[in-house]
Amino acid sequence: MRIGILTGGGDAPGLNGIIESASRVLLQQGHEVIGIADGFEGVFDQNTFPLTFELIRNAHALSGTLLGSSNKSGIAGRETEFHEKYQRLGLDGLIACGGDGTFNGLYRVHEGLKLIGVPKTIDNDLAGTEATFGFDTACACVAENVDALRFTAQAHRRLFVVETMGRTAGWIALGGGLASYADAILIPERPFDRGRLLQFVKAKQGTGRRELMVVMSEGAIAAHEQASVAFRVEDSPQAERFGGAAFTLARWLEQETGWEARHVVLGHLQRARSPTTTDRFLTSFMGVLAARLATQGKWGMAVVYRDGRVTHAPIGDLMKPARLVDANHRWVQQAEALGIFI
Ligand code: F6P
Repeated sequence: MRIGILTGGGDAPGLNGIIESASRVLLQQGHEVIGIADGFEGVFDQNTFPLTFELIRNAHALSGTLLGSSNKSGIAGRETEFHEKYQRLGLDGLIACGGDGTFNGLYRVHEGLKLIGVPKTIDNDLAGTEATFGFDTACACVAENVDALRFTAQAHRRLFVVETMGRTAGWIALGGGLASYADAILIPERPFDRGRLLQFVKAKQGTGRRELMVVMSEGAIAAHEQASVAFRVEDSPQAERFGGAAFTLARWLEQETGWEARHVVLGHLQRARSPTTTDRFLTSFMGVLAARLATQGKWGMAVVYRDGRVTHAPIGDLMKPARLVDANHRWVQQAEALGIFI
């Protein structure tokens, strides 16, 4: 068989793990593996190259993607052209790894095309799967940095607000904040009460604490307020890019409490780290299953994580609304049990 692989949307640590594990299985069985450059763009532009053992070996340890990615080349309105260009590549099947934008595209063209989807996003908010790779690595980045910043905060008697990625989902702030025992975790799903937060911070201040660590999702908001949109990327599936939340909150907390405050935006560092062991396991199992589904001709399926196992489900399962943090999720309860403001 001649199987294509592409990676679409914002990169997530572990994409190369999928490429290495899926390609290994296919190449070992004597199949041809074709790398498609820059997501769907590579199909439209017919930009491909062969994936060999030499190219993929040890890719699992690298962040980014060997294939390149793009979150700007949607399929909407170009479905017929996509079908034609796909046929022109002479593929017997395509493994496409991506987030909501990529799945949206796959869903549009999956009738009549041989496709396997592999969900990815550091935000961990895709429906149909209980976990996406890249998320654990992003949380590790948050936790390591909060732990590190705590020392400089203590040295200077400062309060820090650390801004994480996650758009409208608070998983990264919650996971990273829990792992680093942050004092407060602010997520979009639970708009915070300014009065309550101030009371909490002042109470800590009153105990003589030298530092206070707030972990805040980029999309977190105070009740009845709007998320802080920094700019827009018009041709991206979700155009708003959030930014500025931590800066604004740090300035406000300093003004209200007199506690010197600083902010740190972790930004793309959360996507840049070598994948954690958890993400390596996840991508290793997901890549192997994607290759097996392709060789078994189980088209129209996505590789997903459910009930502690990597398994498969129809691509349509991924089309439901984003999976956000429930008000009473066990991680929220965990934060409350630890006395973390949430
Ligand atoms: O969806 C993944 C994500 O990393 C979000 O957490 C973040 O808001 C966004 O992508 C950033 O996108 P870009 O790389 O276009 O700045």
